[in-house]
Amino acid sequence: MDCPIFFFFLLLTLLPTLSAGFPRSKLLTLELEQSQTPTPTPTTFFQVTRPITPPPNSTHCSTLVLTHDFAYTYTKPPVTSLYNPPTHCTPRAPPSLAVLEFSSTCIGRQFDRIFGVWLGGAEILRSCTAEPRASGIAWSVQKDITSYSSLLSRPQTLAVYLGNIVDATYTGVYHVNVSIHLYFDHRAADKKKASAAAAAGFGSPADLIVPLSRPLPLNDGLWFQVNDSTDIETEQFVVPANTFRAVLEVYVSFHSDDEFWYSNPPDEYISANNLSSPGNGAFREVTVSLDGDLVGVIWPFTVIYTGGINPLLWRPITGVGSFDLPTYDIDVTPFLGKVLDGKKHTIGFGVTNGLDVWYVDGNLHLWLDSKSSYTVGSLIEYKAPGFRPSLVSKFKGLDGSFDTRAHRQISATGWVKSSHGKITTNFFQRLDYENLMEFKGNGSVQVVNQTIEFSYGTYAKHPATVLYSEQVYRKFPLYLYTGSSDEVNDSYSLDANVMLGYDEKRFSGERFGFSFSTLRNLQNAQGTMYVKGNLVTGGLGSTQEVYRYESTEGCYFRNVSSSNYTILHDESGNSCTEDLGYSSIR
Ligand SMILES: *[C@@H]1O[C@H](CO)[C@@H](O)[C@H](O)[C@H]1NC(C)=O
Ligand SMILES: *[C@@H]1O[C@H](CO)[C@@H](O)[C@H](O)[C@H]1NC(C)=O
Ligand SMILES: *[C@@H]1O[C@H](CO)[C@@H](O)[C@H](O)[C@H]1NC(C)=O
Ligand SMILES: *[C@@H]1O[C@H](CO)[C@@H](O)[C@H](O)[C@H]1NC(C)=O
Ligand SMILES: *[C@@H]1O[C@H](CO)[C@@H](O)[C@H](O)[C@H]1NC(C)=O
Ligand SMILES: *[C@@H]1O[C@H](CO)[C@@H](O)[C@H](O)[C@H]1NC(C)=O
Ligand SMILES: *[C@@H]1O[C@H](CO)[C@@H](O)[C@H](O)[C@H]1NC(C)=O
Ligand SMILES: *[C@@H]1O[C@H](CO)[C@@H](O)[C@H](O)[C@H]1NC(C)=O
Ligand SMILES: *[C@@H]1O[C@H](CO)[C@@H](O)[C@H](O)[C@H]1NC(C)=O
Repeated sequence: MDCPIFFFFLLLTLLPTLSAGFPRSKLLTLELEQSQTPTPTPTTFFQVTRPITPPPNSTHCSTLVLTHDFAYTYTKPPVTSLYNPPTHCTPRAPPSLAVLEFSSTCIGRQFDRIFGVWLGGAEILRSCTAEPRASGIAWSVQKDITSYSSLLSRPQTLAVYLGNIVDATYTGVYHVNVSIHLYFDHRAADKKKASAAAAAGFGSPADLIVPLSRPLPLNDGLWFQVNDSTDIETEQFVVPANTFRAVLEVYVSFHSDDEFWYSNPPDEYISANNLSSPGNGAFREVTVSLDGDLVGVIWPFTVIYTGGINPLLWRPITGVGSFDLPTYDIDVTPFLGKVLDGKKHTIGFGVTNGLDVWYVDGNLHLWLDSKSSYTVGSLIEYKAPGFRPSLVSKFKGLDGSFDTRAHRQISATGWVKSSHGKITTNFFQRLDYENLMEFKGNGSVQVVNQTIEFSYGTYAKHPATVLYSEQVYRKFPLYLYTGSSDEVNDSYSLDANVMLGYDEKRFSGERFGFSFSTLRNLQNAQGTMYVKGNLVTGGLGSTQEVYRYESTEGCYFRNVSSSNYTILHDESGNSCTEDLGYSSIR
């Protein structure tokens, strides 16, 4: 067998004890290097992102919520601890900033492990561990969790599921601390804009978060497992009768047969070549339904975990989003009229074309009317036309090309009447997908060139005036080249080139102001690795990343590159370029 991607699949089938629930990239971890010095210095891994800046002159309370050594934790219950709101700085107002900090050290040899952090059943972080070295590693993830403020004011169970296996070969134990930092800005209340949109909760955290996840106790993550394209995982929920706005936030990660879904060839290619590897083509879509109606979809960003493709590429600069996976918001306010009856309703998560396994769950963020005990609403218009991705296949034997394209639009409009007036909300999604896949050299070379464009937005208006609008335009370009040698005696080599981009423009506006931000985050990585069994025995990886964030609230820039674990160049700053590019919003 000489096709690189298929070779990974073959290995998977040889490792039944480590199957489902782990990234396929677990198949590749490094041969233990000799530690050069008696007191080795750990390597610090990081994901490039902009730092979180606390408000000036704010009071700060930190709580270490959980400390645990994750050794043999696979198929065990999540590790839990009790979060108590800090009493030592007696907050009277909600925090103006809340930050979750996950920090970890590890030494030895271990695979990348997916993990989740839940507070009161609501997921607040989906992440992947870094793969350790003999000399040790350390990393930390900071995430702004201000949108979950309503959970932070009461005692809650914090749960972490990180399924790890420790044996004679895979020795790495993840030592983990989870802390929550709250910042109280005493001047914030005075500064608060007195606009109708602000009064109606736009730009403020929800009053209530309803988790759409599996409840404890269980011996796994609280996420739902979607195993195939027919599997719809459902959860029932009830919303308070005085809800006037609702946004569903979805967490998604893909593993095993679908870890590299964007490189899966169509079934016709698999069967024509009699291969025993996953297919279903390269298009995937996470569907979200409410009482059976599709309310939104997710065409996900192609996160590459820290052991993915060639683990040497992600040391110490890890893949875009790998330490803090992106989440996706679906505004379900137009549908509120259908669920304000105090009865149980059902959310369903599915994956179009999905293979084993996707981890999906969500949080329903709800804004409640403090001045009335009930609200009423109705759906006015809803369009979610069916669609089918197009596929043009050309292949002979193991060589060929596949062009997959898809486009869809979803739009819903509905009104809700509350003490804020009768607000009509439109939510839309517009998505475009193109994937060009090529096999050459009798299947030994695979090239994938994929672009997802995913825009969505909310418009809220009173009968005569626009109240608030938000538009987000996301673009996820991916280019992947892999070329492998023939496998001899359980050994092969692989050359890989990866280009991974995450671009986002965000515009939000109301009558008295607007904010705008643009992010361009582009990673290029190249490397060669030598593999024996499932151990990388040698090779070299280099990575370059340019991150540029510009916004009406401030800017951040970083240009960093590494090779063979060493940072070659690292430049960062927070000056804005002159043109913030408002004109290029569309
Ligand atoms: C291509 O690969 C297949 C499967 O590994 C092998 O049977 C065939 O002989 C190869 N063809 C050439 C031209 O190398
Ligand atoms: C912060 O406090 C210091 C003195 O306590 C004051 O000089 C400064 O202006 C304050 N900064 C802001 C942004 O309010
Ligand atoms: C966790 O916190 C303890 C106590 O502050 C500290 O000694 C330890 O080094 C921390 N570990 C990590 C991985 O941050
Ligand atoms: C999905 O797979 C998991 C693990 O094999 C299994 O526990 C679960 O029952 C499966 N779910 C469905 C709906 O088949
Ligand atoms: C396809 O693979 C199966 C199982 O490996 C084998 O039994 C069968 O002979 C193969 N068929 C062809 C046409 O190569
Ligand atoms: C990827 O495909 C697009 C067309 O969809 C093309 O413009 C672009 O140049 C390709 N990128 C690479 C690296 O080949
Ligand atoms: C493969 O392994 C066999 C037995 O260990 C050995 O004789 C042979 O030389 C090896 N071949 C290569 C190309 O390394
Ligand atoms: C990033 O740094 C590299 C190396 O110094 C340089 O060649 C490149 O032009 C820089 N890119 C940007 C966008 O500044
Ligand atoms: C990578 O760095 C190590 C020392 O950390 C060195 O021994 C090795 O030769 C380097 N590899 C390459 C290909 O430069």
